[in-house]
Amino acid sequence: MKIIMLGAPGAGKGTQAKRIAEKYTVPHISTGDIFRANIKNGTELGNKAKSYMDQGLLVPDELVVDLVVDRVKQDDCVNGYVFDGFPRTIPQAEALDTALKAINEKIDFAVNVEVPDSNIVDRMSGRRACLNCGATYHLEHIPTKVEGICDVCGSELVLRDDDKPETVLKRLKVYHEQTQPLIDFYKNQGVLVEVDGTKDMAEVFKAIVSVLEQ
Ligand code: AP5
Ligand code: MG
Repeated sequence: MKIIMLGAPGAGKGTQAKRIAEKYTVPHISTGDIFRANIKNGTELGNKAKSYMDQGLLVPDELVVDLVVDRVKQDDCVNGYVFDGFPRTIPQAEALDTALKAINEKIDFAVNVEVPDSNIVDRMSGRRACLNCGATYHLEHIPTKVEGICDVCGSELVLRDDDKPETVLKRLKVYHEQTQPLIDFYKNQGVLVEVDGTKDMAEVFKAIVSVLEQ
């Protein structure tokens, strides 16, 4: 099963992608997580990506596409994967289509998690992320057992640098300009699934699963 998660920053792509990956035993491929891991490890890719991410801008397509195309060729992707935060521009989506076509594959579903901008800033300011294992929490909606400490790996949680309100507004603007057009792109391919992301997390997941298993 090859799935793309679409949606604004903070819509819940990562939250739902993790659940899908677990249920269907496929890898969760988050380009944002890959960049954050690179930043943490001080790699060249991380240094390049950081300046864009901190401003709420997209990392240039050429730094993203090869990385993802290499990733899906790995053995754990034979039964599919869930992309989270990729593709994010029409050129990225076209590059993905071309790469998949070359190996006789295609995307099965593009799941758009819809949340209005007005809900997003609140969600992001309450989010706490583990930069070690990628787990995310929310101060109110998903509290940790011990405040500020990841339930999964015990690392200290952080407010992501790009989750400050002014950067979130910039990310939303970039989303509407560069990523939202992908909704029509995948609608035209007949693979678009739309779910209401303002519902409770478990309900959103149920709605997604019911479409995937139709
Ligand atoms: P990325 O890490 O992908 O960030 P994003 O798309 O901005 O999305 P987020 O991770 O912020 O939100 P999410 O939808 O995953 O929401 P979450 O589940 O955490 O990208 C970061 C940056 O990297 C980009 O800005 C860009 O610079 C760069 N980048 C990455 N990929 C790129 C690409 N392909 N091309 C170019 N640049 C790229 O949920 C948010 C919060 O809400 C959490 O606290 C969660 O607990 C809570 N929540 C989730 N669901 C619900 C619910 N139903 N009800 C209540 N609360 C909820
Ligand atoms: Mg995410």
